[in-house]
Amino acid sequence: MSNRFLSSTAKNLQPSGIRRFFDLAAGMEGVISLGVGEPDFVTSWKIREASILSLEEGYTSYTANPGILSLRKEISKYYRTKYSLSYDPNSEVLVTVGASQGIDLAIRAVVNPGEEVIVIRPSFVSYLPTIELAGGIPVPIETTAETDFRPTADAIRHAVTDRTKAVMICSPSNPTGTVLNQSSLQEIADVCIEKDLLVITDEIYAELSYDEAHVSIASLSKMRERTIVINGFSKGFAMTGWRLGFALGPDDILQAMLKIHQYTTMCASTTAQHGALEALRNGWEDVAHMRKHYQRRRNYIVRSFQEMGLSCHMPGGAFYAFPSIKSTGFSSEEFAEKLLHEEKVAVVPGNVFGPSGEGHIRCSYASSMEQLQEAVRRMEQFIARHSTQEPFLVDQKTMQT
Ligand SMILES: Cc1ncc(COP(=O)(O)O)c(C=O)c1O
Repeated sequence: MSNRFLSSTAKNLQPSGIRRFFDLAAGMEGVISLGVGEPDFVTSWKIREASILSLEEGYTSYTANPGILSLRKEISKYYRTKYSLSYDPNSEVLVTVGASQGIDLAIRAVVNPGEEVIVIRPSFVSYLPTIELAGGIPVPIETTAETDFRPTADAIRHAVTDRTKAVMICSPSNPTGTVLNQSSLQEIADVCIEKDLLVITDEIYAELSYDEAHVSIASLSKMRERTIVINGFSKGFAMTGWRLGFALGPDDILQAMLKIHQYTTMCASTTAQHGALEALRNGWEDVAHMRKHYQRRRNYIVRSFQEMGLSCHMPGGAFYAFPSIKSTGFSSEEFAEKLLHEEKVAVVPGNVFGPSGEGHIRCSYASSMEQLQEAVRRMEQFIARHSTQEPFLVDQKTMQT
């Protein structure tokens, strides 16, 4: 009945496909979940200790709207050291409530109703709804495993209209794990310069790049002035529950984001900001340790998929493998539901990330090696039981680990 009170925006918003699927798994005993998109590590003790200490010292008030200045300085130093990018901590750095709020602020600060934002798909589930909530129109570009889920310059150029405002990219990507290397980023940059577009780059998995150093599109020539960088502490530092992220960009855009932030949120959590400061100052060994474990798990799970006959491109980053399940003849929803019911392994059907995700499943390897080994054993049984007459073909190109 109270339905009549709801806004049409809220009514039309679809619940996340991931959540819908995990409602199915809730309450089932003995499920191994490869579904969650968060580290299985607990935040390192020194970060937790710094936050506790800040409480003991009485830091319990609001901070400055854009965040504690020392944290903004440390974030600025991080991007200068890692990417040779210079952002003024006073006007070009904003501490946000997770990368999630950074994405929302970036879109709201730049998109007018009816303007289009190009999104590379398969993509993180929140991009499209966030654009729609701002009154914008998402324009998806579908990519496939054949091109390692990289968009071509032509595909982007083709999608641009006179209403296009921005291109959203995510590298390393959720859900595919694809890392956009220098040449892919240059292709995107060339179109954005040619068509005068902004780039919103989600770099939340930057610290989880395994094979090559992560490149930020903002560091390419003439890109800093047309790029909003979104990043945060959730993934690399295993701090999802702390809800802390940051945005970097030219000061006029960052100041617009700050206005929205100060009216809607005031500031990010003071306690979390003190933890984040410690993370950037002294947390790097722990990041390297976690990255080493993820890389080992990635190599194991991708090889296991290939051995069970599921072709799987080698994800360069994040903690997701995105194998194809097309050889089984099941749709991604059917595969995920059957696997859950028959073998109690929860994965995310690829179609929730867009039509190009159909025929794939997203498996998070942010789980212990023991859990992964058991999940692999169960999946092998499942595949063997449902294998069609044709032997599965292993994609040779993706065999190297
Ligand atoms: C691509 C991507 N961006 C942003 C987020 C949200 O990060 P945060 O926890 O910092 O809000 C996630 C979380 O899964 C993600 O996968």
